[in-house]
Amino acid sequence: MKRKDLLGLRDVPRAEIEHILDTAVRFRGVSERRIKKVPTLRGRTVVSLFFENSTRTKTSFDLAAKRLSADGVSISASSSAAKKGETLMDTARNIDAMAPDLVILRHSCAGSPHMLARSFDFSVINAGDGINEHPSQGLLDMLTMRDHLQSLEGKTVAIVGDVFHSRVARSNLYGLRTMGARVLVAGPGTMCRPELEVLGAEVRHRIDDVLAEADVVMMLRIQRERLARAMVSTAGEYADLYGLDLKKLARASERTLVMHPGPINRGVEMTPDVADHANSVILEQVRNGVAVRMALMYLLLGEIDEAAA
Ligand code: NCD
Repeated sequence: MKRKDLLGLRDVPRAEIEHILDTAVRFRGVSERRIKKVPTLRGRTVVSLFFENSTRTKTSFDLAAKRLSADGVSISASSSAAKKGETLMDTARNIDAMAPDLVILRHSCAGSPHMLARSFDFSVINAGDGINEHPSQGLLDMLTMRDHLQSLEGKTVAIVGDVFHSRVARSNLYGLRTMGARVLVAGPGTMCRPELEVLGAEVRHRIDDVLAEADVVMMLRIQRERLARAMVSTAGEYADLYGLDLKKLARASERTLVMHPGPINRGVEMTPDVADHANSVILEQVRNGVAVRMALMYLLLGEIDEAAA
């Protein structure tokens, strides 16, 4: 892979997505061994900078770096000097002075990883920038779908919930369209805006209008603070209208996969019996996350070394 950074899936061509997913499959075995470590990135330095809360994504990147033998340091908002008023650029200049090879950034400002990628020689992976993109999540979701559906070409993926404000949905939309899948979206009008059609989605609103056709139904976390703006008064009302329960799931095919990027609000986006259903692949998504992030680190840093050797 010739790119220095992975900032989003918008401009990543199909062959490159396939290559990343195939590489992730090769790395998956490492996490199944008793000694979960390969020497691939020995001596390389990975810094993860998380300015927003995260458990899953941060742990996943940290474990991926460790399993490749990279030296990793992670800094989260609560421990960073940003709390003392330092700008992101100054934080990055200081980190750059310590010679990292790769910086993983999560930040509430859309475009912040792009700014670092333009300004510094280290590689950058976007781990979520505001409502823009979260490419490693899109890739781990596509790997999980591919495991079950073989190919994504011609498959139908329904994304339900706050699609408009979701970087997970946006990265999936770009990636899935590139891979030849159809994307249907449903949710309250304020969260499922007509503009999404520009990105290649078919906007339907009611969950019943997307379930019957879906090979995959991806439920998004509902951010309680956004409910009022969505003109849905309570989490209970949202659950009735847009949440997935066994009755609604029965309208889908019996093979329809249920996905969620986490963290789940049980009883809101989906009932506990749907979250733990045989069709739910939510923990496979998490397992694939480590492999996809190992693949990305290897492709951004490791392959370059091999070519130079
Ligand atoms: C998501 C995120 O932070 O964008 N979570 C994740 O990375 N798995 C989605 C969310 O917070 O709802």
